[in-house]
Amino acid sequence: MDDRGFLLSDGIYEVTPAYRGRLFRIEQHMRRLQKGLDALRIEYDPAGLPEMHGRLIAENALDTEDVAIVYLQITRGAAPRTHHFPPAGTPATVYAFAQPYRRPDPTRWELGYEAITLPDDRWARVDIKSIGLLPNVLAQQAAVDAGVADALLVKDGVALEGSHNNVFAVLDGVVTTHPATHQILHGVTRAYVIELAREQGIPVEERPVSLEEMRAADEIFFTGTTTEVRPTVRLDDQPVGSGKVGPVAKALYEAFQVGTQAGVSAA
Ligand code: PDD
Repeated sequence: MDDRGFLLSDGIYEVTPAYRGRLFRIEQHMRRLQKGLDALRIEYDPAGLPEMHGRLIAENALDTEDVAIVYLQITRGAAPRTHHFPPAGTPATVYAFAQPYRRPDPTRWELGYEAITLPDDRWARVDIKSIGLLPNVLAQQAAVDAGVADALLVKDGVALEGSHNNVFAVLDGVVTTHPATHQILHGVTRAYVIELAREQGIPVEERPVSLEEMRAADEIFFTGTTTEVRPTVRLDDQPVGSGKVGPVAKALYEAFQVGTQAGVSAA
């Protein structure tokens, strides 16, 4: 019970998907993890983690699932509670589990989803995948209470990302998303969807998108490991664009499914 993750949220995490047993872009997830370890000054050698991820999938018989996820958490270890770091040599705590991920039924996806907007109350380094997720928890619960799928976090009039996913807007045919600054989590799915859009010849722009622009967008969609590509057809109870799932979200989700099934793993 003295674990610093439990007492102080002093740790980081990753969620990595596996498609039919193949880990998707594990290198990118491990790179982000290493950045988090460095930022938090947690001493831990992650070299054995990719293999451990593979074993968790295999030993839980998840390699036949279309999609499974591995959750991994690393904390600064267990020690009597202090705000400062525990004594040198305190071993980091590593915890991981694997479970199946259920993709929504295609007919459900085709209907699109709703989202609400909320103020972004988080700290200034949300690019670090910290286990301190209280604002994200409260935001997603507000979405659940409102009966919608996603919570869009807004700061200083800028639509940043979702409670547990990144957000894109289609503005005059341009796929637009906030740049990878300290103000968003640098989603592995986000980067992949940007690549897919470029491959399809769809222009992409990484720049801040105001809430006003979001409300006037032709399309909005969220991306993430446990979101894949999820289109928003109503924002704060107002229709987005035509009020139907748009062609860009459809094309990107299709390409995403093909690409992940093919086991794309290159950077
Ligand atoms: N969430 N933004 C936030 C705030 C997130 O928590 C996540 C991921 C993302 C998308 O990142 P990626 O594409 O690498 O999954 C963006 C994970 C899945 C979670 O908390 O469960």
